[in-house]
Amino acid sequence: MDIREEIRALKEREQAVILAHYYAPDEVQAIADYVGDSFFLAKAAAKTEAKTIVFCGVHFMGESAKILNPSRRVLMPDLSADCAMAHMATAEQILKLREEVRDLAVVCYINSTAALKGLSDVIVTSSNAEKIVRALKEKNILFIPDQNLGSYIASKVPEKTFYYSGGYCPVHAFLLAKDVLAEKKAHPKAEVLTHPECIGEVRAVSDFIGSTADIIKYAEKSGADEFIVCTEPGVLYELKARCAGKVFYPVSMVCADMKKNTLEGVRDCLLHGSGEVVMREEEMEAARRPLERMLELAK
Ligand code: 13P
Ligand code: SF4
Repeated sequence: MDIREEIRALKEREQAVILAHYYAPDEVQAIADYVGDSFFLAKAAAKTEAKTIVFCGVHFMGESAKILNPSRRVLMPDLSADCAMAHMATAEQILKLREEVRDLAVVCYINSTAALKGLSDVIVTSSNAEKIVRALKEKNILFIPDQNLGSYIASKVPEKTFYYSGGYCPVHAFLLAKDVLAEKKAHPKAEVLTHPECIGEVRAVSDFIGSTADIIKYAEKSGADEFIVCTEPGVLYELKARCAGKVFYPVSMVCADMKKNTLEGVRDCLLHGSGEVVMREEEMEAARRPLERMLELAK
């Protein structure tokens, strides 16, 4: 039997829904019920009535799904798929700044461990961070763990003072403006579309900055025919599907962890119930409050 048919049959047997991030391999995006950015997938996980969620993403995404919808079983095709940035802040940094700075909100990017979320006031994703930070009453913001997304939001909300834990995405942060400009020289009419996890010098030479979903929406509407894409090249699958006739030039590295989500992994976790996300009750409870606050403030 073709592996796609096997997955379809197992999905029915297990009353499962398959969620995949835009960075998952093309063939996995093709069989998923929902494909999207982190915010879209968190909302989809929170409201699904399926008994089992198969999350084709990285570990913090599976954790967030479990926290937001704890009565569902959450399976991941490869539990070792992790986001390096998710660990780039410490409890000590948070507790120290809470003592030192008054009128402080700890704003935590969803690309973080559940433990860090549990110490934070609100969670954000790249598609809702600006709106949520603006809505906070506090003047001072500790933005963890991504300093690049944080400094981008700081440039949009200059009335607030930002502090950082110093984390970064190893896939996006090593892309340099000279790489983008070299591509631009080869394709002078191309628009530059950039994820806010990129460094400031790359954002500065971009025509549009936004989450994976926002980049796709922008490319669909834009009058341009060519685009230089400064985010993980997995987004090209959806970009090409939605923008027939347009041409995309990826410049970013691949996220190796996202590519751990294979069709075989999807089949096997459904077949054996393997790769289950299991969390401690207290850890889930602490992280649920700021995650639910995100859903509320982003409405
Ligand atoms: P999005 O929220 O834009 O999908 O980004 C997730 C991510 O991990 C980017 O590296
Ligand atoms: Fe994490 Fe970067 Fe991979 Fe996104 S691309 S999951 S931020 S390592």
